Amino acid sequence: MFKINENYLKLPGSYLFSTVGRKEREYKAAHPDKKVIKLSIGDVTQPLVPSIVEALHGAVDEMGKAETFRGYAPDLGYEFLRSAIASGDYKARGVDIDIDEIFVSDGAKCDSGNIQEILGLDNKIAVGDPVYPVYVDSNVMAGRTGTYDAATGMWSNVVYMPCLEENGFAPTLPKETPDIIYLCFPNNPTGATVTKDELQKWVDYANEKKALIIYDAAYEAYISESNVPHTVYECDGAKTCAIELRSFSKNAGFTGVRLGFTVIPKELKCGDVSLNALWARRHGTKYNGAPYIVQRAGEAVYSETGRQELKKQVAYYMNNAKVIKEGLAEAGFSVSGGVNAPYIWLKTVNGMSSWEFFDYVLEKANVVGTPGSGFGPSGEGYFRLTAFGTYENTVEAIERMKKLI
Ligand code: MLT
Repeated sequence: MFKINENYLKLPGSYLFSTVGRKEREYKAAHPDKKVIKLSIGDVTQPLVPSIVEALHGAVDEMGKAETFRGYAPDLGYEFLRSAIASGDYKARGVDIDIDEIFVSDGAKCDSGNIQEILGLDNKIAVGDPVYPVYVDSNVMAGRTGTYDAATGMWSNVVYMPCLEENGFAPTLPKETPDIIYLCFPNNPTGATVTKDELQKWVDYANEKKALIIYDAAYEAYISESNVPHTVYECDGAKTCAIELRSFSKNAGFTGVRLGFTVIPKELKCGDVSLNALWARRHGTKYNGAPYIVQRAGEAVYSETGRQELKKQVAYYMNNAKVIKEGLAEAGFSVSGGVNAPYIWLKTVNGMSSWEFFDYVLEKANVVGTPGSGFGPSGEGYFRLTAFGTYENTVEAIERMKKLI
């Protein structure tokens, strides 16, 4: 008789963004006359920039000719893309990453969920609280998190690092020593960042405790302040303790195109076992690579024209962040984030819970955001808005929300 993976039964409710999407659909179905503005999931709205469209067209044409047709991609991804990444994302910042340390994938969500597969089940994970839900849920599915306490919203075998107003909504070193530490800077959902000196403390801590950092840098393109690191490898010693996850979704508008990569330095070892070798084995066995066409589009991100075009696209979204942050602050909301990240983290009003505020904002302003409590217990009483909407919708949504206070 077959058996299911019972760890899945421990997951409370559905995936956060599925629940938010369902509530939005239900509201729209019940109120077809209302113009609902979605500032919930961090999904981009601007079209692909011309140099990327051109690269996609060119690659499609190549696939249509016998002499340039390609089948399966190389296990780690095409060399042209990995070289562009190594020089554009790392060498340009004084960091030496070898192309064999870069694994191309179809996005950081999958990588952040899958990476735990090469790690033992008896590892204890530490996460920011609130946190991008994939880190916790994927560890629940693997059976690493213990039991769930519905009253506190916490797992018995997870170290929570609260991200609160008093620590600038960024995690600080945990009291209990974990084996694996998930860090996301610029942070999703709070939009907080750390300076290079602060990140260096995490790296030193991980090396001292022999812990592994899984560093999600999906939002690095949104960094505007010069003392904020763009990659964990800017810190000394990071290559012996950190894996870095990167995405093309937010810096190049690829949420529907799908492309990302993971960096695992060769120096990163558990005893004498190389994590790079384990992930290469896993990648080769379970993954057939991002499409050639998409990898060519990814290469175009690093071209001079691509860079210029994408700088403007990022600036467009960050202008939305400013509209949200300044508009809500003027109205009297307590807001943070939005300076080095496309997310604005705001406190609910009148003591409402995050879900009460979600319903209130949807009902009264017809705006969809994401309830902070969906990201973890310390997110209760908070609400996240994304800057990835169109400018026009963002302005309208904020005008409507200003009237709520
Ligand atoms: C978010 O809204 O947190 C992200 O867009 C979700 C994701 O990247 O998977």
